[in-house]
Amino acid sequence: MASSTLLLSLLFASLVISSSAAAAAPNFFQTTDITWGDGRAQVLDNGDLLTLSLDKATGSGFQSINEYLFGKIDMQIKLVSGNSAGTVTAYYLRSEGSAWDEIDFEFLGNLSGDPYIVHTNVFSQGKGNREQQFYLWFDPTADFHTYSIIWNPQRIIFYVDGMPIRVFENKESIGVPFLKNQPMRIQSSLWNADNWATRGGLVKTNWSLAPFTASYRNFNEDACIWPWGQASCGSTVSDKSWYTQDLDFENQGKLKWVQNNFMIYNYCNDAKRFPQGLPPECNDAA
Ligand SMILES: *[C@@H]1O[C@H](CO)[C@@H](O)[C@H](O)[C@H]1NC(C)=O
Ligand SMILES: *[C@@H]1O[C@H](CO)[C@@H](O)[C@H](O)[C@H]1NC(C)=O
Repeated sequence: MASSTLLLSLLFASLVISSSAAAAAPNFFQTTDITWGDGRAQVLDNGDLLTLSLDKATGSGFQSINEYLFGKIDMQIKLVSGNSAGTVTAYYLRSEGSAWDEIDFEFLGNLSGDPYIVHTNVFSQGKGNREQQFYLWFDPTADFHTYSIIWNPQRIIFYVDGMPIRVFENKESIGVPFLKNQPMRIQSSLWNADNWATRGGLVKTNWSLAPFTASYRNFNEDACIWPWGQASCGSTVSDKSWYTQDLDFENQGKLKWVQNNFMIYNYCNDAKRFPQGLPPECNDAA
């Protein structure tokens, strides 16, 4: 028993060494810092894989080393499988300070076979209350899927596997602050929120199933690295198609398909919540 374990670990070590010779691409060791979780967040496979885990004591998290001011950020995530009720996997961009900017994906777990909710939000200068929520058209725990944020001076686009699910336009012209001055980092965490996450808090985390694990790979930061001018974007930004990206006719159709079939909440349709009137960006056609 002990010797076969040793043999396996030797085999594993040699695999790691041989793949490290081949791999030159940026990896999680170079692009991210583990921020909390006391060993529950791990970078594995020579930097190609990052896992977060959650148990009854605590969850875990990481952040990008770089800060960005505009960019196209992709991450492949495989969410907590099986009964993930009560867990939340948050993946977002956020700046510092009390008037922060933030672009959120939050994945709310569920009982086995019941759908996750993808919760999105946009904060500008500390003000959020712009939630949209979706079901997905696939099982996000069976495999990795790509979650992308395009952030440019005109708009923010949320994508799932290249399918636009949400657009937040720059509406400064009607007085809505836009996210354009504060650099943001990617942040991600896996934590317990069974007081609200699943069916509004009705279904609690089953701790006998812990630890819960979410996995990340293929982090791609095609972005303007802060401080502006020192790095990738200063002179080459006009070469970057995401910098002016909008939805063409075909992608507007895809967005409609997602919103018609999978959107389960939109703050812009929640008149009861805003008795003084819907937020201005809701009424102004793009
Ligand atoms: C969990 O499943 C229930 C039943 O299908 C559904 O109402 C709910 O929206 C799902 N998602 C979450 C996160 O509660
Ligand atoms: C929690 O999971 C265990 C193991 O699958 C199961 O036996 C138990 O019934 C579950 N508890 C609840 C409250 O569902």
